[in-house]
Amino acid sequence: MLVRRIRDGTVIDHIPAGRALTVLRILGITGSEGYKLAIVMNVESKKLGKKDIVKIEGLYLDKEQLDKIALIAPTATVNIVKDYRVVEKMKVRLPEDLSNILSCANPTCITRQPREPIKPRFKLVSRRPVLYQCVYCGTLIEEDDIVRQLGGSA
Ligand code: CTP
Ligand code: ZN
Repeated sequence: MLVRRIRDGTVIDHIPAGRALTVLRILGITGSEGYKLAIVMNVESKKLGKKDIVKIEGLYLDKEQLDKIALIAPTATVNIVKDYRVVEKMKVRLPEDLSNILSCANPTCITRQPREPIKPRFKLVSRRPVLYQCVYCGTLIEEDDIVRQLGGSA
């Protein structure tokens, strides 16, 4: 293995290759918070061909953080490690309903009008490929656009 096992914290595994830094950005981790962390990129994976892994000591994720990870890394597995053992392993799941996280690409959408206090809202249309739809104007947003909006390069 490239990086040693962690003692207590979270391992986000099976991230699509090249997206580890976007995952960290989404979690708001810049590196200056002091977390002991490891980023492994573009390593072989049986399931994905290539994958990224992020290991963070001392960090446990909440529901909103897991939802955001699902958006850019729908294949990710989140492992909770306690005393060197994986005590919980979960697949991230794309939320059916997304509020505020993404914005609509349609400039005439009501959510884009400065005088309208309507927050963007999307409904999940398809998991593979990832596809969401604006509940107000019907505009679709696909995975590449989602990754770009969240600060990555698809
Ligand atoms: N891991 C870690 N530190 C630990 C335990 C596990 O960094 N103390 C990491 C492993 O390196 C792996 C991930 O957490 O990347 C999941 O560990 P494990 O469930 O043991 O591996 P697999 O069985 O290969 O996982 P999967 O079936 O999800 O591919
Ligand atoms: Zn819209």
